[in-house]
Amino acid sequence: MRAPGASIAHHAPMAAAVRIRSATPTDADAITAVVSVAFPSPLEARLVAALREAGRLIVELVADLDGRLVGHIAFSPVTIAGAPQVPGLGLAPLAVLPECQGQGIGGRLIELGLEAASRADAAFVVVLGEPRVYGRFGFERADRRGFDNEYGAGEQFMVLELRRGALDGLRGLVRYDATFARILEANG
Ligand SMILES: CC(C)(COP(=O)(O)OP(=O)(O)OC[C@H]1O[C@@H](n2cnc3c(N)ncnc32)[C@H](O)[C@@H]1OP(=O)(O)O)[C@@H](O)C(=O)NCCC(=O)NCCS
Repeated sequence: MRAPGASIAHHAPMAAAVRIRSATPTDADAITAVVSVAFPSPLEARLVAALREAGRLIVELVADLDGRLVGHIAFSPVTIAGAPQVPGLGLAPLAVLPECQGQGIGGRLIELGLEAASRADAAFVVVLGEPRVYGRFGFERADRRGFDNEYGAGEQFMVLELRRGALDGLRGLVRYDATFARILEANG
């Protein structure tokens, strides 16, 4: 049996030293490096750069370890077809350097990212990812609430209501920012 608090103690040294803060323009190159290393293809890093260029990074946080960036999370606008007035954000991508994974940094980026999304007036957040990673933050299967996605994803497409009741009575296709389609098409 693990002693109470053992996993926290195990996570403590690096996670405690990491500061989660908003990204600044001078972080751009370091963010590209982190995202490129965390994902097997350059697609996600290109996506972040294109979203930044288009001014669509509504929330962007970095994990800063003594001046070295080790993690990154981005949120950009999404809309529900038929209810474009309800402001939503898509969480994508999320990246932590491989050597820094498993120490709670990704979790802190999600937690503080969701708080920042709330302050940015988002009524809901969607994500396409691992249910094990996002379920603990309250995300639920979006299809169970009647929301479809553009990518044919099932349980991996999840939604979280930030404003209670904001999604009541709504259903339909949730579209990511047009930048996603542009970058996906350009990269085959
Ligand atoms: C996903 C990612 C950001 C998590 O960062 P992290 O700093 O390791 O996250 P944390 O330490 O806070 O917590 C990770 C938890 O999610 C789990 N997890 C991480 N990736 C997972 C995956 N692909 N499938 C299932 N569980 C996963 C870990 O096992 C851990 O669970 P535990 O605490 O019960 O052991 C990081 O693994 C990463 O950058 N991966 C490559 C890029 C990627 O796939 N991003 C999209 C994720 S949907």
